[in-house]
Amino acid sequence: MCGIVGYVGNKENSVRVLIDGLKKLEYRGYDSAGIAFISNGKLNIQKEKGELVNLQNRVNLDKKLDIGIGHTRWATHGKSNALNAHPHRVGKFTIVHNGIIENYNELKEELKKEGYDFNSETDTEVLCSLIDKLYKEDNNILNVINKLKNEIKGTYAVGIMCDDYPDQLYAVKNKSPLIIGVGDNENYIASDVPAILDKTRKYIVLEDGDYAKLTNSEIKLYHDGKNKDYKVELSQLDASSVDKQGYPHYMLKEIHEQPEVFKKTVNPYLSEGIETLILKMPDFTKYSKIRIVACGSATHAGLVGKQMIEKFANVEVQVDTASEFRYSKNFLKEDELVIVISQSGETIDTLEALLKAKKEGVDTLGIINAKDSAIARESKMVLYTEAGKEIAVATTKAYSAQVALLCLIALNLSYSKNLITKDGIKDILKDVRNLPSYMEELLQNTEEYKNIAKSIKDYNDIFFIGRGVDYALAMEGSLKLKEISYTHSEAYAAGELKHGTISLIDEGTPVIGIVTDETIASKTISNIKEVKSRGANVIYVTSRKDEKDNDFYDKKVIIPKVNDLLQPLLTVIPLQMISYELAKLKGCSIDKPKNLAKSVTVE
Ligand code: AGP
Repeated sequence: MCGIVGYVGNKENSVRVLIDGLKKLEYRGYDSAGIAFISNGKLNIQKEKGELVNLQNRVNLDKKLDIGIGHTRWATHGKSNALNAHPHRVGKFTIVHNGIIENYNELKEELKKEGYDFNSETDTEVLCSLIDKLYKEDNNILNVINKLKNEIKGTYAVGIMCDDYPDQLYAVKNKSPLIIGVGDNENYIASDVPAILDKTRKYIVLEDGDYAKLTNSEIKLYHDGKNKDYKVELSQLDASSVDKQGYPHYMLKEIHEQPEVFKKTVNPYLSEGIETLILKMPDFTKYSKIRIVACGSATHAGLVGKQMIEKFANVEVQVDTASEFRYSKNFLKEDELVIVISQSGETIDTLEALLKAKKEGVDTLGIINAKDSAIARESKMVLYTEAGKEIAVATTKAYSAQVALLCLIALNLSYSKNLITKDGIKDILKDVRNLPSYMEELLQNTEEYKNIAKSIKDYNDIFFIGRGVDYALAMEGSLKLKEISYTHSEAYAAGELKHGTISLIDEGTPVIGIVTDETIASKTISNIKEVKSRGANVIYVTSRKDEKDNDFYDKKVIIPKVNDLLQPLLTVIPLQMISYELAKLKGCSIDKPKNLAKSVTVE
């Protein structure tokens, strides 16, 4: 969850290259930043607490460097301050690191016995000391790097500079993402492609155990002490996709991209009608049960998928959070399918859950947004969401693309099992065509969302309630609100509230009640009336337009009624927008919320 960049070459104002690269990676962590570079043979290290702009204001952007590394941090070991910021330097080595060295305490004790002392609280300083120690014993950097996998337990992507080789940049990767950018008479390392996109589109993906030596004119890859061939990829990302394009925040831009993302994700499967859907997806009918494993919002997408697959295809679905699945007895059966969902494709809990499922011999399917990601590589089958690069830490377009793909899986299975009529298919395909415009309609209601945000901004506890698929949406709405507006919130099964938690409802307590499932609408409305009668400020989000009763809510947000299979893709938009407007009202850092990072590559 940190961002790493590195550069070796002869560009003129190349300190700017490091800072610009870090800017594109700030979504990975932003509680401190630092750079180290050699210019005219002299090593410079500058580190600052807080966001990257603090460092940027302290460095000479136009200084020419021959080689350099940079880092933007999401703290795992030690407070977020300049001392713990990377790069770390020990002896002849200066490094930046993304990941967690799990056995750093044991290593630290051993290294102390060998005379090393430590200034920071980080595992990275221990790693740097270990590299220095191994080098003193072996004096061959490549051997040293190759030995690391036997010495350390954990995850790491590391950029390394050594005083003895001021024109060589080294890199090593295990579980934390790292790519090499291939330039003309210059080369880069980075945690992710956007960091180098305005310099080069050519990149090499490092796999677990790979390590590399870069000069400005040469790239060499190694694995287990041997040379390794590599393939140079050409990024299809365009620089504008990592640009705000006039929106005040990436999050708002990405919320507004959802209609387009829906079309890009869904249309390829329906271009020639339902038959394309069957042709372009795996045969799911051979699985007796589907297990969905993910984290955070991806889990919430999975819960929507569960409702759709069970309702339309009559196949049992179980959803587990990856961090629990990893350490539970999962009783997987060989005719089950495990679907892992991940926007980044690098979430360590989801990756490890996937590896566990594979070890237990079941088929695996990844629903992934980031191509060339670890989870995409490890999944037996992959369905890609076409959300494009998602920069805001709080996911929106990637979440809804995940929901869209899961709905298509439900439709695929329903059709394959002859559970849907021709008219049913026609109705769905009609709504698929209309959905983007319904989304646009909802996105125009900014004033409505602003007013709702105003009505709830002074409250510290906000509840979301719903039943079935609406409960799954309530969870996603609640997480969005917490993540970006720092307001405590809870999603509750509407029928469960009266079993205790309703005691927290006071005069004015905001409760967002979600009702789109007609089969249980009256039950949920009864639950909403229960909180209303206790003074709640009810925001009623529903697809039910003409209702006689209007005394059980304070504000009604009407969403267009579409086929149940597609309804969640509309319901989520007001929830995203209310959270966005509340966060804006509270002056929060919307794209980079405190304590968070976009890709959770630590456990
Ligand atoms: C959602 O807004 C959060 N940023 C977080 O819950 C996220 O969904 C979760 O960490 C999973 O990330 P992934 O989809 O990249 O695996």
